[in-house]
Amino acid sequence: MQPLIEMREVRVHFPLQRGEVVHAVDGVNLTLTQGEAVGLVGESGCGKSTLARALLRLIPLTAGEVWFDGKPLHQIPEGQLRPLRKQMQIVFQDPMASLNPRLRIGHILVEPLEVHGLARGKQAWQQAGELLERVGLPSEYLHRYPHEFSGGQRQRICIARAIATQPRLLVADEPTSALDLSIRAQIHALLSALQRELHMAILFVTHDLHAVRQVCSRVLVMYLGKVVESAPVERLFTAPAHPYTCALLDAVLEPKPSQARRPRNLPAGDVPTAVRVPTGCRFHTRCPYAQQRCEVEEPSLQTTEAGHEVACHYPLSSGNTKTA
Ligand SMILES: Nc1ncnc2c1ncn2[C@@H]1O[C@H](COP(=O)(O)OP(=O)(O)OP(=O)(O)O)[C@@H](O)[C@H]1O
Ligand code: SF4
Ligand SMILES: [Mg+2]
Repeated sequence: MQPLIEMREVRVHFPLQRGEVVHAVDGVNLTLTQGEAVGLVGESGCGKSTLARALLRLIPLTAGEVWFDGKPLHQIPEGQLRPLRKQMQIVFQDPMASLNPRLRIGHILVEPLEVHGLARGKQAWQQAGELLERVGLPSEYLHRYPHEFSGGQRQRICIARAIATQPRLLVADEPTSALDLSIRAQIHALLSALQRELHMAILFVTHDLHAVRQVCSRVLVMYLGKVVESAPVERLFTAPAHPYTCALLDAVLEPKPSQARRPRNLPAGDVPTAVRVPTGCRFHTRCPYAQQRCEVEEPSLQTTEAGHEVACHYPLSSGNTKTA
């Protein structure tokens, strides 16, 4: 089956003053099939949002290709993107900043329907009411303004607006990190339900590994602009192979005796910046298992078993005997 999304060797670099360059995304391959929910995790600054924006062509690529449904998104002129934009939507972290405070919810939801020629006038308002109900809000709320809602309700409205055009891809960039803990699970459940009903692909960017387990079937782990591990979600939780993934999981899961080889914590010390990227394996300055080879030779993603890829010279699931 042809993938819905294919990113090939994508790089996004931001030039700074004095000739320095931020290597925000530094050679990423990513494939998403229709209806698949994929999580993207990693520490702050590792390039998750930049990758998500590059995927939607909200920022230019420095190098690489992005294919959407077999079409070369990276080559299509801006003026001809509208039919594809309809099929790709994004939900951001801060729902208040995403909604125009001067517009009633009805106008906010009718706008994409009219812009993309899906409905007009009374019919568009009718559809806007149905969209609200679909995200768990009564259609009477069409007449209210954004400030009359809670954070969770506002994010539901943003999701309603995003699905108005029946997109095939939804990018959710930390959609719940600005919300109360008690509300987050409800929004994750809503995203999951919509993904199944609409058969959308979702790229779910988050710091919350529990949420990834709730929403996604596959997960990618990023470190300093690179994907270092990719696996089906349960596999990643039960048999993580990259030392960095293990450290991320350790921060959120109770350790089990069978996983005693995992590092308890990432070593203290400076986190390298995406300006001065370490040589060899980018994680070697923090990795408890680093050896000399790691300082000079960059590991590429290798398949360890079906659907599980890891970029490490000494992956933890290979039965090696390293100790922290
Ligand atoms: N417009 C820009 N100009 C210069 N540097 C940028 C720009 N946008 C992002 N960066 C840098 O690129 C790197 C990746 O940023 P990005 O926002 O993609 O990270 P992130 O993984 O989404 O982080 P967070 O979890 O905090 O949202 C960071 O070092 C960031 O400072
Ligand atoms: S390649 Fe070496 S430094 Fe990098 S994660 Fe693997 S063991 Fe650690
Ligand atoms: Mg981000």
